Amino acid sequence: MSSLPKTISTISKGTQTPLSVEERLFVALDYPDAASALAMAEQLAPLGVSYKIGLQLFYAEGMAVVRQLRQFGKTVFVDLKLHDIPNTVAGAVDSLVSQGVDFLNLHTQGGPEMMRAAVASAQQAATRLGQMPPKLIGVTLLTSLSEQALNEFLFVAGVSLGEYVQHLALQAQKAGLDGVVCSAQEAPLIRAACGSDFLLVTPGIRPAGAGDQDQARVITPAQAFKNGTDYLVIGRPITGASDPVVATQAILDEMRGALA
Ligand code: C5P
Repeated sequence: MSSLPKTISTISKGTQTPLSVEERLFVALDYPDAASALAMAEQLAPLGVSYKIGLQLFYAEGMAVVRQLRQFGKTVFVDLKLHDIPNTVAGAVDSLVSQGVDFLNLHTQGGPEMMRAAVASAQQAATRLGQMPPKLIGVTLLTSLSEQALNEFLFVAGVSLGEYVQHLALQAQKAGLDGVVCSAQEAPLIRAACGSDFLLVTPGIRPAGAGDQDQARVITPAQAFKNGTDYLVIGRPITGASDPVVATQAILDEMRGALA
């Protein structure tokens, strides 16, 4: 089992700013409306955690809710999993960066040109605006897809899921992305291939005792860091808890213990 190379992975790529435990936790605000998301964000804001918004909230509320969340002064990850031809993705990245995002993601399966176009667009928009470009994170193979789906549906024969994900992570790195979303179970393989500067963002996290809900392959916060992840994405164990602040504090304590 690989352990976290603290001297390097605790440094945020490109900024040389040490990452706090709180910054390493993205709370997934999977809500149908801005009012619910902002109420949870406000409740958690004193703890200093980061936020992630996904398709449900973005399609309902658009960039307005991203701007409102950024007013809390925390990192906001816009999880829209862009996947289109290079020119269209470049345009989408320009729009998102122009309006302000900290992290955004795109499917690596859109190909190298699409990924390079996204990187160039993010850098151009950031330069134009005089700000740091956002972290661009690749989606490799959705964690809802199994090795059987890879072989039979995607028709990729003779390759294990781990090899496939590792290959796409390397392609993402080659194209200039900052990191990938992955299962913490795949983190050691990707870390070994892509090195300590490549950011690993992992959902499917469940503190001991929390229910799995629809996540098939779950791992605890402590184990995820032992596997070499940089950021955790956690939704329902926090947003569905009877006391979200207490649940978040317990997760942060577990993260601190794993990183100590
Ligand atoms: O509630 P839960 O902790 O399962 O939420 C996980 C979050 O991470 C959700 O917003 C989900 O969309 C996102 N996610 C995931 N698996 C991926 C990519 C993103 O669960 N492979």
